[in-house]
Amino acid sequence: MKKVKKAVFPVAGMGTRFLPATKASPKEMLPLVDKPLIQYVVEEAIESGIQEIIMITGRGKNAIEDHFDRSMELENLLEKRNQTEELASVRKISDMCDFWYIRQKEPMGLGHAILKARDMIGDEPFAVLLGDDIIHTNGTPALAQLLEVYNRTGASVVAIEEVAKERVSSYGIVDPVHCEGSLCMVKGLVEKPEPESAPSNLAVIGRYVLTPRIFEMLDKVNPDQKGEIQLTAGLNALCAVEPLHGCKFTGKRYDAGDKLGFVIATVEYALRRGDIGTEFQKYLAELKF
Ligand code: UTP
Repeated sequence: MKKVKKAVFPVAGMGTRFLPATKASPKEMLPLVDKPLIQYVVEEAIESGIQEIIMITGRGKNAIEDHFDRSMELENLLEKRNQTEELASVRKISDMCDFWYIRQKEPMGLGHAILKARDMIGDEPFAVLLGDDIIHTNGTPALAQLLEVYNRTGASVVAIEEVAKERVSSYGIVDPVHCEGSLCMVKGLVEKPEPESAPSNLAVIGRYVLTPRIFEMLDKVNPDQKGEIQLTAGLNALCAVEPLHGCKFTGKRYDAGDKLGFVIATVEYALRRGDIGTEFQKYLAELKF
């Protein structure tokens, strides 16, 4: 069985839920305290053993490329000023792993974005991580939990989480055959179903480990009413020809692509911080609003 070494990060979406902040800057660069969303997810991939990251970018996303590149001017300045801690944190970002960039000329859907990575992935299993979903764990990173399932079964795995019934219409929802412990065998997926017709309340979250067969499926699926090729449709086709697992990961997920989710993540990440957490907690306890 081939080892998963590459991860695809689709970052070409328009981020319309976060306008006007995302008009001229990528939503992936919004910071949780002092680190952009995308860096949290890149660090999760690297901690899970990923060696190469392929970002699917689009117009207005240059800041992401710059963030993961060397900045000699900034490094020289920090060196001159003896700001060794800051220098190390800046250098660490570009040294993390190899980054590749592919343009998706038009945002034609998540499935279409993933298809763009086909030539770079070749005939290997690979991971997909979405920068909107930030997952905090106290132990094994979420992607590593999925990789553990893949390494055991050799089959594709999607991260799943139970959501309130009235929220199912915001997610891709799996149709499970049966679940045992944290693992479900999936026989179908539906994109944003109405609560009455949803096959379950198990939502797909932005972490996937996929066999290269997904490309064949994405190539064949029809665009939706908006003209977009959805990953959910590709996964639905995949589970008709290959086993597909859903993994109920351990950890807390934040929907950072949504305004309320982002604010909640900011508060909780600030509270977890060693440098500002205690003072921030004190501030919140005394806040009268
Ligand atoms: P979303 O639909 O959540 O992100 O896509 P969005 O389109 O950026 O945001 P809203 O809904 O308008 O606020 C999920 C992921 O897929 C990527 C996005 O960047 C995001 O990480 N994506 C989506 C692409 O790369 N290309 C696309 O055509 C669509």
